[in-house]
Amino acid sequence: MRRTDELNLAHLKAAVDEAAHASLSGAGLDLRVLPSDDRAASDAWAQSVARGFLDRERSDEQSAHSFESAGSRRRLGVYDPSGPMPEVPVGTFASWIGDLSVPGDAEVTACAISAVTVAQTHHRRGIARAMMQGELNTAATLGVPVATLTVSESTLYGRYGFAPAAAAANWRIDRRRAGWLGPLPSGRFDYISRERWAALAPALHERVRRHAPGELSMPASHWTRFARTHPGAHEPGAVRAVQYTDDAGTVTGLVLYTVQENHDDYTKSGAQVQWLVADGPDAYAALWHFLLHLDLVGELRAGELSVDEPLWWLIADQRAAQVSVTDHHYVRVLDVPAALEARRYQAADVIDLTVTDPLGHAQGRWVLDVDESGQGSVHPLTGDSPQGAVRVGLGVQELSAAYLGGVSLATLAYAGRIETNDAFAAARVFAWPVPPRLSYWY
Ligand SMILES: CC(C)(COP(=O)(O)OP(=O)(O)OC[C@H]1O[C@@H](n2cnc3c(N)ncnc32)[C@H](O)[C@@H]1OP(=O)(O)O)[C@@H](O)C(=O)NCCC(=O)NCCS
Repeated sequence: MRRTDELNLAHLKAAVDEAAHASLSGAGLDLRVLPSDDRAASDAWAQSVARGFLDRERSDEQSAHSFESAGSRRRLGVYDPSGPMPEVPVGTFASWIGDLSVPGDAEVTACAISAVTVAQTHHRRGIARAMMQGELNTAATLGVPVATLTVSESTLYGRYGFAPAAAAANWRIDRRRAGWLGPLPSGRFDYISRERWAALAPALHERVRRHAPGELSMPASHWTRFARTHPGAHEPGAVRAVQYTDDAGTVTGLVLYTVQENHDDYTKSGAQVQWLVADGPDAYAALWHFLLHLDLVGELRAGELSVDEPLWWLIADQRAAQVSVTDHHYVRVLDVPAALEARRYQAADVIDLTVTDPLGHAQGRWVLDVDESGQGSVHPLTGDSPQGAVRVGLGVQELSAAYLGGVSLATLAYAGRIETNDAFAAARVFAWPVPPRLSYWY
């Protein structure tokens, strides 16, 4: 069995963290892992998550779907027995064990976290902190090297050691002004059903994501969410699905998009790319060519793109695009040797690395020895620095921010966030030519 699958089973079965349980018990609250076969508990949990994210009440159909697709995730609920609805959790938390792509076409096992909510009625009593610290303990105890999440607010998770490690670029393109410098597509395009899109997308994404640091394997239920094929999906008919087949007859690209009509002037309608996945430059250029030639569309929008998107070099007029960048995929290193040995490096060197971590998981001093092939080995270090080693002292947030190559250690040194005797040597080691990205939210 794969290491990730083994860890996933152990993670689903793990008991709640004792310290987290004790701290919430002290406040009269009960922290529990939801049994996967308890439909009523699952429905109540899903209602709490919906409320926490400003959504409407879940319909029976949606609740049934949540229950059926919940098996792959570990779900926690915090219950207040003194309230009028003691069966409805006042705190929720979900996580699963996935594979995070890291520099060098490699991957590391990650604990991906989502559905963190606390009812407004129970805010600011330490419920989120207890759940997060407890679940980080659980993941670290199981031997999961990193934790990841996407955020509703950027200020929430630094206190637990998370840092923005892969940024997202959000584009608005004046379609008519953009022009085109790229190759003309030679394959064929076909509209397909959303069901077919959801059937084809997982395998294509799995192939592509290995070359893109920051991408994460997705639970099956997420695909139906994107394709809006799950019961009770919001405006499912608004999504159009297209496949691109290359000259060899292989489907190498898929896109989902929505359109917004402009009734005052039809030619100024808008289109929003929901998800684009392309295996290779031919499919990539072809799909963007297709999108930039949608009739009646004035502005094309796309989010969660890379900060170094090849699209920039496919259009003739770069000022046709307005690009804004936001923090997106957050990473938290839990096990320094395992995390650092999982990725590859750009330059051979020896780094004397001291990491501070208020929660303790990543605290310590190591030597990172990178060989000519870019493989690093990590060993505990006490005493003197190895001869000629580059010294780097940093917090777990800074290490996590630089882990995928999304920020240069020289930039962090200039920002006063790390200490080093040679920022550029350290930066050369950790740099990576492909900036990290994550093409979705979770
Ligand atoms: C964000 C949320 C989960 C916090 O829950 P909570 O139980 O009130 O948080 P805690 O009491 O455990 O507070 C933990 C820390 O976070 C801080 N914090 C809580 N909410 C915050 C916010 N909205 N912005 C900034 N800091 C916040 C607290 O001040 C506290 O800081 P400290 O421990 O360093 O002093 C809750 O506000 C919520 O459910 N919001 C809506 C859903 C959401 O945005 N979830 C996050 C998904 S990414």
